[in-house]
Amino acid sequence: MEQELLAEMKKVFTEKFGAEETRSYFSPGRVNLIGEHTDYNGGHVFPCAISLGTYALVADRKDTKTRIYSMNLADKGVIEFEMSGLSYDKAKNWANYPMGVVSVFEQAGHKCSHGFDIVINGTLPNGSGLSSSASLEVLTAVILNEAFGFGLDMVEMVKLSQKAENVFVGVNCGIMDQFAVGMGKQDCAILLDCNTLDYRYSKIALKDASIVISNTNKPHSLASSAYNVRRAQCEHALNELKEVKPELNALGELSNEEFNKLAGHISEPLERQRARHAVCENNRTMEAVAALESDDVEKFGKLMNDSHFSLRDDYDVTGKELDTLAELAWQQDGVIGSRMTGAGFGGCTVSLVKNSAIPAFKENCRQGLYGKDRLCTELLCCKHC
Ligand code: GLA
Repeated sequence: MEQELLAEMKKVFTEKFGAEETRSYFSPGRVNLIGEHTDYNGGHVFPCAISLGTYALVADRKDTKTRIYSMNLADKGVIEFEMSGLSYDKAKNWANYPMGVVSVFEQAGHKCSHGFDIVINGTLPNGSGLSSSASLEVLTAVILNEAFGFGLDMVEMVKLSQKAENVFVGVNCGIMDQFAVGMGKQDCAILLDCNTLDYRYSKIALKDASIVISNTNKPHSLASSAYNVRRAQCEHALNELKEVKPELNALGELSNEEFNKLAGHISEPLERQRARHAVCENNRTMEAVAALESDDVEKFGKLMNDSHFSLRDDYDVTGKELDTLAELAWQQDGVIGSRMTGAGFGGCTVSLVKNSAIPAFKENCRQGLYGKDRLCTELLCCKHC
């Protein structure tokens, strides 16, 4: 499968750029099992890398120009950019992600002395909340690091990739996606403390169940502005709490009890709600990981459901499609838990489903979502651990 995909890419590369010697790269996507909208609140996340991702075929050029072509966005054609002095350019469309990485590398003193010819082919559905952009950013970082021998370690590349998205693309995302993409390990999820970047791997052992990712096929295209609003609401709530608790650095530092005592100091009810999600979701994530590590898969599943409720009711980032898909999952036999994953407003759900129930699960979801065959349900991550 991978060989075929690379052979197809090679053909396209030759058509677009000529028969040069190429190197191949792969960067995964990610699915977050629990811990949503906690990363930029200094909390914990629990994502894993998945086997869908972004492939690149790359050849060096002698000049300082890069030509890049995506087989997924063929209508955008070959996009060109210089390797120095870049700024965001709407006309360059998706290429702003790799351009952003080149730009933050340059600002960090890692100047790229030549450009590349690159063909991209992604197996992640765009806008599905499985981090196709982080996958492309980390991929670019690895290509640059290797080509120029910058000697950066993966965490440094992860941070630069996040910076590219924040300052170049203008989405004020946290670090979860780039971290999961860069640091993911087979059959493991990562428990990451986004306040300190301390992390550890946790083996995903689900006995007779699997992780199932289901796509609503509603792209979360409006997500960035609503995302930035959620983030600003949490920051404002934190600032009000700091007035009564100056030593507080992040919502992720609070227990649920502490939050309940302090919550009255957040003046806006909506912001109180947003902050409550951030605090409870963080504590829920730690509880869920502890449950999984003591083999209590059922409890993990229940906490996934609670996470969805909180994202729906307090954080308001689910929407009709994700709610429909989660509700469909909850009704079915053999579903241990189900929730939206990623930023929300569309994209995917992640469910834990007993292996024996998966065929029926796929069929029921397919029929249930508006009764149309528009759902791609994939069994991607961690297979049958
Ligand atoms: C997006 C962001 C992440 C994270 C999630 C929500 O994927 O890129 O940093 O905030 O949303 O958990």
